[in-house]
Amino acid sequence: MTLTITYLGHAGFLLDDGAHAVAIDPFLTGNPLAKTKPDDVNCQYIVLTHGHADHFGDTLSIAKRNNAAVVGAFEICTYCEQQGIAKTEPMNPGGQISTDFGWVALTQAFHSSSFDGQYMGMPCGAIINIGGVTIYHCGDTGLFSDMKLLGELYKPDIACIPIGDRFTMGPELATKAAEFIGAKIAIPIHYNTWPPIEQDPANFNPADVEVKVMAPGETWQYG
Ligand code: NI
Ligand code: MN
Repeated sequence: MTLTITYLGHAGFLLDDGAHAVAIDPFLTGNPLAKTKPDDVNCQYIVLTHGHADHFGDTLSIAKRNNAAVVGAFEICTYCEQQGIAKTEPMNPGGQISTDFGWVALTQAFHSSSFDGQYMGMPCGAIINIGGVTIYHCGDTGLFSDMKLLGELYKPDIACIPIGDRFTMGPELATKAAEFIGAKIAIPIHYNTWPPIEQDPANFNPADVEVKVMAPGETWQYG
């Protein structure tokens, strides 16, 4: 059980188990903190939490160049198909799919979801099992007490939790979220990309959870 985790910045990640690579919310073009170029992202899957531009990002170019499958809400997948993406895995909250690397489940998230003025379905969190490691990426969301239930059901090893405030939880509520989820490790995301979401991750300090602060472009070998 070993997984290479690269933080693309903002809410974006690349997960690589050596045989398969999964990108999450690959927002690179226009991301002032991103260190990675879209053309350098090689993956077989792109998991999207919702349709906002700071998550959808470079999905179309990365998916087309890699012939990658887009996994996300039904409406996002329909949009991607209209834009010429050949492979999609449409889902909705509560659903889970098996993949060649493991599985993906979508959860609820309290947020909104649109792109180019078009409705993009439910905003979601994504729970991804790859290389024997389970990661709960909360997406953009407010705090909700069912995070405790999701933690019990899916037993994530790592939680990626937004702390930027304004559009999502801030550090105090995110601290509660991390304690609800109960993953051993929590990575703060969705902060400092722009002034309105500037935060000090030191204020994200859940009890009995190791906080792993990652810099954009940083790679971490887990397991
Ligand atoms: Ni959003
Ligand atoms: Mn966002």
